[in-house]
Amino acid sequence: MQALRCHAFGPIANLVVEDIASPAPGAGEVLIDVHAASINYPDTLMVQGLYQVKPPLPFTPGAELAGVVAAVGDGVRHLKVGDRVAASTGTGAFAQQAVAEATRVMPLPDGMDFDAGASFVLAYGTSIHALRTIAKLQPGETLLVLGAAGGVGIAAVQIAKAMGARVIAAASSDAKRALAREAGADETVDYTQAEWRREVERLTDGKGADVVYDAVGGNYAEPALRATAWRGRYLVVGFAAGEIPKLPLNLALLKERAILGVFWGAAMTREPRQLMADLQQLAAWFAEGRVTPPVTEQVPLTGAADAMSRLATRQAMGKLVVRPRG
Ligand SMILES: NC(=O)c1ccc[n+]([C@@H]2O[C@H](COP(=O)([O-])OP(=O)(O)OC[C@H]3O[C@@H](n4cnc5c(N)ncnc54)[C@H](OP(=O)(O)O)[C@@H]3O)[C@@H](O)[C@H]2O)c1
Repeated sequence: MQALRCHAFGPIANLVVEDIASPAPGAGEVLIDVHAASINYPDTLMVQGLYQVKPPLPFTPGAELAGVVAAVGDGVRHLKVGDRVAASTGTGAFAQQAVAEATRVMPLPDGMDFDAGASFVLAYGTSIHALRTIAKLQPGETLLVLGAAGGVGIAAVQIAKAMGARVIAAASSDAKRALAREAGADETVDYTQAEWRREVERLTDGKGADVVYDAVGGNYAEPALRATAWRGRYLVVGFAAGEIPKLPLNLALLKERAILGVFWGAAMTREPRQLMADLQQLAAWFAEGRVTPPVTEQVPLTGAADAMSRLATRQAMGKLVVRPRG
């Protein structure tokens, strides 16, 4: 089968498409014919050796996919050959076949195509975990989302609307802010402008946002924490801007703000039942038309490295999907 391969941690452009042997499913695993796999920011860090997880080399990147079950390992009961599924794999998704742990595989909801399915588990799983379990976002509260047209950001916008919150979306371009509005954002802010947090304060009658979803970090983090309301919750989700911010803790004290970490992958390993409950809620919202991954681009395996580079350099929005079978 064909796969995108990383032989050494380094530039994304060094990734190559190669023929390798198909993986075999072990106990508790399934083999999936991959029809679509979406690109997430951590994929771009992992191949450069910049992510907290460093797989043994060589490896196939790609953390989530959708396709058809081709073989089932011992002990797997809820899946069978021929099932249309979505899965979170950590690595291995940018290939024509991939192995997944059965606990991280869900049947594709009715009406969901492979592109949307491949864009669902990780980004939407992260954002429902962040907003529901960690922030305990309430109907009527205001959520500020940084990087709101990115993968986890746009999922956060849609999920917060499904939960009855008001959403302020921060993004860097007109096109990205338009995509966030299409996803349901009530207001948008250009956070490349100096003093952008004043705009958030204006939109919240000086109060600030009850919850802030920060998957961007860098220089955006401190104004975002300052734009968090009295007893608000500031979610540390990621650092797409590159730098891990160092924040003055008096900003937490002064308004009794809570700074809360979010690590979906680790939480789901510890709490697989919560993962299944979250995925069921997401599937129900999908059926009601409340959450739909905005797939903006599809590329073949040979275009995957280029698409990853664009995502890593802020030139993408929504979800980019790799189709390993053409
Ligand atoms: N904590 C968790 O469990 C968890 C799970 C999944 C992902 N993450 C993290 O969440 C972050 C976003 O992941 P994603 O897959 O949603 O990425 P994505 O689709 O690339 O979105 C990231 C957004 O960050 C913004 N950004 C600002 N500065 C940037 C820069 N220098 N380079 C690239 N983007 C920049 C971009 O929006 P603008 O151009 O509008 O600024 C972009 O849309 C990553 O740091 C990832 O590691 C965390």
